[in-house]
Amino acid sequence: MPEATFALTVGDAVTRSTQLLTEAGCDTPRLDVELLLADVLGVDRARLVLDRDQVLDADELARLGGLVCRRCTREPVAYILGRKAFRRIKLTVDPRVLIPRPETELLVEVGLSFEAGARVVDVGTGSGAVALALKDERPDLNMWATDVDADALEVARGNAERLGLDVQFVQGDMLDGVGGPCDAVLANLPYVEEGVALEAEISSYEPPGALFAGPDGLAVIRRLVGMLSGVPLVALEVGEGQATAVSELLRGSGFLEIEILRDLADHERVVVGRR
Ligand SMILES: C[S@@+](CC[C@H](N)C(=O)[O-])C[C@H]1O[C@@H](n2cnc3c(N)ncnc32)[C@H](O)[C@@H]1O
Repeated sequence: MPEATFALTVGDAVTRSTQLLTEAGCDTPRLDVELLLADVLGVDRARLVLDRDQVLDADELARLGGLVCRRCTREPVAYILGRKAFRRIKLTVDPRVLIPRPETELLVEVGLSFEAGARVVDVGTGSGAVALALKDERPDLNMWATDVDADALEVARGNAERLGLDVQFVQGDMLDGVGGPCDAVLANLPYVEEGVALEAEISSYEPPGALFAGPDGLAVIRRLVGMLSGVPLVALEVGEGQATAVSELLRGSGFLEIEILRDLADHERVVVGRR
C-alpha cells in the first residue's frame, strides 16, 4: 500500500490557521495568518490569493506552524516577524521597544512643516520611529532622539544604521544630554493609566516602561511639559480623553496657541503647543 501523504495548500493553511487564531482570541486572525505565511514563503501577501492552490512543503508547513503557535500565545505579529512599517520606512522591532502605531505617524506629519534646518528632538524614541521617519522625509532637519532605556536605544541605533539615517541618539531623561536649544520637541511618551487592563498582546509582550505613567497616565507628559522653557513648539501624543488636560498643561506652561489633531479613528491624538 502506498504511504499516505499529507498535502496542505496555501488556501487550506490560511483557513485552518485562521481558525486557530480565532479560537486564541486574536482580533484580526486572517490578516495575521496571511502576514505570517507570506513571510514563510517570502512573497507579498497579495500573492497568496493567486497561489492558493500551491501545496506547502514540509519545511514551509513546519515554519508556519511555529509562527502560528507563537501568535496563539498572543505574541504580536510585529515581534514575530521582527519588523514594522512606519510611514516610508521599515523598522526592526523586538520586545525591548514599543511597536510603533499608525496614529503616531501624526507626529511625523507635524514635523514635515518645520523650517529648513530646524533642530528637533524626539523624546522617548523607542525604536526610533518618529525621529527616523521624519529624517527620512526631511533630511535637512537636525534630528535628535532621547530615551531613558539603553536597550531601546540599541534598537533605535540599529535601525538608524540599517536605514542610513543621521539622527543623534542620547540616553537620558527627557531632554538631558541634548546640547543647546531646540526648535521643536515631538514626543510619544508613556500615557497609560496605572492598573488599566490591556490586551494580552500589550500586557504580556510590550515593555511596561513604554506604557504606564501614574494613576492618571499623565505623570511623564506632565514632567516633560515642565521642562520645555525656551522650546517654541511641542507636539505630544496623548491617550483617549487626555487632550483637554494636556492642552491645559501646555497653556499653563506658556504655550499660547494650542491645536488638537485627530487620528484616522477620529480620536484626539496629538496636542500641539506653540508659543
Ligand atoms: C510609548 S513608547 C514610544 C516609543 C516611540 N516614540 C514610538 O512612538 O513608537 C515611550 C518611550 O519613552 C521612553 N521613556 C519613558 N520615560 C522617559 C523619559 N523620562 N525620558 C525619555 N524617554 C522616556 C520609554 O523608554 C519608551 O521607549
